[in-house]
Amino acid sequence: MNNKWKRKHFSNTQPPILRSPLLTISLLTVLLLILLFFFTSNRFSTSPLSGSRSSQSTLLNPLCSSTLTPNSLGIAKFIWYAPHSGFSNQLSEFKNAVLMSAILNRTLIVPPILDHHAVALGSCPKFRVLSPNDLRFAVWNHTIQLLWDQRYVSMADIIDLSELIANSGLEVIDFRVFISIWCGVQIDSLCSRDLETFSAISESLQQCGSLLSGYNGNINNCLYASGEDCTNTVWTYQKDEEDGSLDVFQPDEQIKKKKKISFVRRRRDVYQTFGPGSKAESAQVLALGSMFTAPYKGSESHIDVHEAPKDQRIQSLIEKVEYLPFISEIVAAGKKFALQTIRAPFLCAQLRLVDGQFKNHWETTFQRLRQELEPLKQKGPLPIHVFVMTDLPATNWSGSYLGDVSKDSKTYKLFMLREDDHLLQATAKKINDAERGIILHSSLKHLGASGKRCAPRILPDVLLYVEETICSCASLGFVGTAGSTIAESITVMRKQHVC
Ligand SMILES: *[C@@H]1O[C@H](CO)[C@@H](O)[C@H](O)[C@H]1NC(C)=O
Ligand SMILES: *[C@@H]1O[C@H](CO)[C@@H](O)[C@H](O)[C@H]1NC(C)=O
Ligand SMILES: *[C@@H]1O[C@H](CO)[C@@H](O)[C@H](O)[C@H]1NC(C)=O
Repeated sequence: MNNKWKRKHFSNTQPPILRSPLLTISLLTVLLLILLFFFTSNRFSTSPLSGSRSSQSTLLNPLCSSTLTPNSLGIAKFIWYAPHSGFSNQLSEFKNAVLMSAILNRTLIVPPILDHHAVALGSCPKFRVLSPNDLRFAVWNHTIQLLWDQRYVSMADIIDLSELIANSGLEVIDFRVFISIWCGVQIDSLCSRDLETFSAISESLQQCGSLLSGYNGNINNCLYASGEDCTNTVWTYQKDEEDGSLDVFQPDEQIKKKKKISFVRRRRDVYQTFGPGSKAESAQVLALGSMFTAPYKGSESHIDVHEAPKDQRIQSLIEKVEYLPFISEIVAAGKKFALQTIRAPFLCAQLRLVDGQFKNHWETTFQRLRQELEPLKQKGPLPIHVFVMTDLPATNWSGSYLGDVSKDSKTYKLFMLREDDHLLQATAKKINDAERGIILHSSLKHLGASGKRCAPRILPDVLLYVEETICSCASLGFVGTAGSTIAESITVMRKQHVC
């Protein structure tokens, strides 16, 4: 537990003030309090909700103790948020988080890619969503699970952030590096996969996560955990006349009664709420909730920052984040499959048929495919090359239009990328070796927080990313599933001529 006080950054880069006797004494006191806390903490371990330990928990975070305020160490302030749902959702949330971090001049904590469906937000239109605290804690919990399973993949391992960092002044820190400093836990001690070690540090991690999620409330200079979500807030930026006004979409009387909702949805300026002069400003960590947004009934469900004409820096960032490229290894793999395996002009069919809402829309989805294929069939040449990416296993195709197409080998030649394709294995291995996430540019490097990581036991699953890239290469056209965020990503990639 007291390991963190021996960390390099406290001995090597001590400002002179830390050498004063007074400080030594106060550090000793802090240490004693921590030990005391450690011995009494068992009774806290069951629920993240116990509210009585905020002052003690502050002491668990070396960087939040009063003598080490962000400014005295010259450390950046951070922004954390809670990604959820599938990869495409997580990517669009990441883009919004990049904007938020730029508007607020905070270092963005880059999250891992969460498993599909590991964390769900709920439904904004139905006013049924996880509270920001619960959402953040669920994300935290899953993230620790990924670390323990040794299959942690950073968003920065998959999405190329180099341009944003080099030219847009984006400041980032890897989540693992951040928690090793903020929670004082050596992440690489998980490598041994020793259960005893794990339960020792998982206790500290649980506490740190519950603190960071906001269960202990806000902590002066340390943490500001936002309580805003899509049921009460639509974020805006520099639309001054709108700040505090009602959004056009409000819970109707029926929902208000049923859910006992007394609030309304307001449009609020991000900068006014969290920037200079706000309660959040001095907090070293600003914890936001979901960064997911979607157009809904003439408004946005949560974030309405689509332009910033009065702020050139943010305006150009808004344009840049519309398309964030995959890292070069993924793009190269997609191109390779198009050139060496398909080896002819082809059409891409992205057919979501199983997951969630999509299982009820086979008719519409297949109709769009048929509409694209028929004219190609008339024109020739045959066979028409088609790359299919779908969540419906090939064994379930028979009886559907897709089954018919696959049987008609005179007219169609189908290609799929199989999960065990060696191209995917090789790409995953390259990504893994590149370690982009952990070596992210960070203003904290001088603290010695270089961040070791465990060699993963399980390589990242890159199927989706390579498939999307292949579809961006499809010169005969693209058929996507209506309402699928994957289809949207592919459309953007095609517009950008990624291939
Ligand atoms: C962020 O930095 C820009 C330019 O340096 C400045 O104009 C802006 O007020 C800063 N915002 C915050 C929230 O400090
Ligand atoms: C945290 O994760 C564990 C296992 O992954 C699960 O059993 C537990 O319910 C989760 N807790 C919360 C609060 O999500
Ligand atoms: C695929 O077929 C199997 C066996 O017939 C069936 O159990 C399963 O539910 C099917 N899956 C889908 C998504 O239709």
